[in-house]
Amino acid sequence: MSKDFLPIKGYDHVEFFVGNAKQAAHFYHKTFGFTPVAKKGLETGSRDRASYVMRQGNVTFVFTSAYGPDSPIARHCALHGDGVKVIALQVADVERALAAAKERGATVIQPATTQEDEHGIVVAGGIRYAGDTIFRFIERENYRGPFGPGFQPIEAHSAPSVGLAAIDHIVTNVHLGEMDYWAKWFEQVLGFENLVHFTDEDISTEYSALMSKVMQNGTGKCKFPINEPAEGKKKSQIEEYLEYYRGPGVQHIAMNTANIYETVDTLRKRDIDFLRVPDSYYDYVQERVGDVGEDWDRLQALGILIDKDEDGYLLQIFTAPMQDRPTLFYEVIQRHGSRGFGIGNFKALFVSIEREQALRGNL
Ligand code: FE2
Repeated sequence: MSKDFLPIKGYDHVEFFVGNAKQAAHFYHKTFGFTPVAKKGLETGSRDRASYVMRQGNVTFVFTSAYGPDSPIARHCALHGDGVKVIALQVADVERALAAAKERGATVIQPATTQEDEHGIVVAGGIRYAGDTIFRFIERENYRGPFGPGFQPIEAHSAPSVGLAAIDHIVTNVHLGEMDYWAKWFEQVLGFENLVHFTDEDISTEYSALMSKVMQNGTGKCKFPINEPAEGKKKSQIEEYLEYYRGPGVQHIAMNTANIYETVDTLRKRDIDFLRVPDSYYDYVQERVGDVGEDWDRLQALGILIDKDEDGYLLQIFTAPMQDRPTLFYEVIQRHGSRGFGIGNFKALFVSIEREQALRGNL
């Protein structure tokens, strides 16, 4: 792609600011099956923060918390609750990426910084994104350690993996009227293009409405849908997020699996809660997607959703929010040709909830 002035190699990691990184790391190890890879903290000379690096497949999560109340990390947690602070993308040249982004309107909040240890060199720098979220560019071709300078490797425990393989997409919620601004920002600043646009006609029901634009980079590796609330009869789930997160931020991270049945079965056994799917959703599912060779009974038993488009189909499921505030949640997705986002499910799901409500005489 000729206009790809900011070539991105892929996702590097996602960093969360949380109230208690030690417990978060333990939770992600025991439930989602991430393996602890590296950490920093007081014992490694980090005086202001503890960070745990967790990995599964190509997904790397970093959980960070503050040692004191005056830290910007603590303030971030007080305002937003636990949530995503940094979306880190791998590039070949951080300095060039920052210069290109800045020239096109980005606000640089961390200039290119080089860190070095016995494993090599990592260069990182950051720009401001929606709300208090930031994009970090990372250059690590010349680094062979587990994560980065300043981090100490953790003796790898046996990983109770659930089969998560990679990040598929990361979704941001923004205020009403801001979706187009950020879609343009992705185009202008990062050289992304608009893959799809869903209007409130596509994804609205009586009760919840939203609009969404999906932005993707030149190689199609990184996909960022941006949601904004639309007018509905009741408060939309996007408005609820914005209220509790106190502004825009990451709504969900979707991760790929090669066997969604096994992944979801294991996660359910480890007490992860998923979005409730009414049985009536499955009454019409075969009619909607046709015979694609899936096990309908197992699909229903596990509450997995299915959606089809011209390229193929996909299986997906959404967790409940991962913290007390109704903010960040996860999606597990298995693609069979489809490059979509399961937009048909939004309607099918809510229509079936409303159908059940009508059966109870409450609609
Ligand atoms: Fe999604």
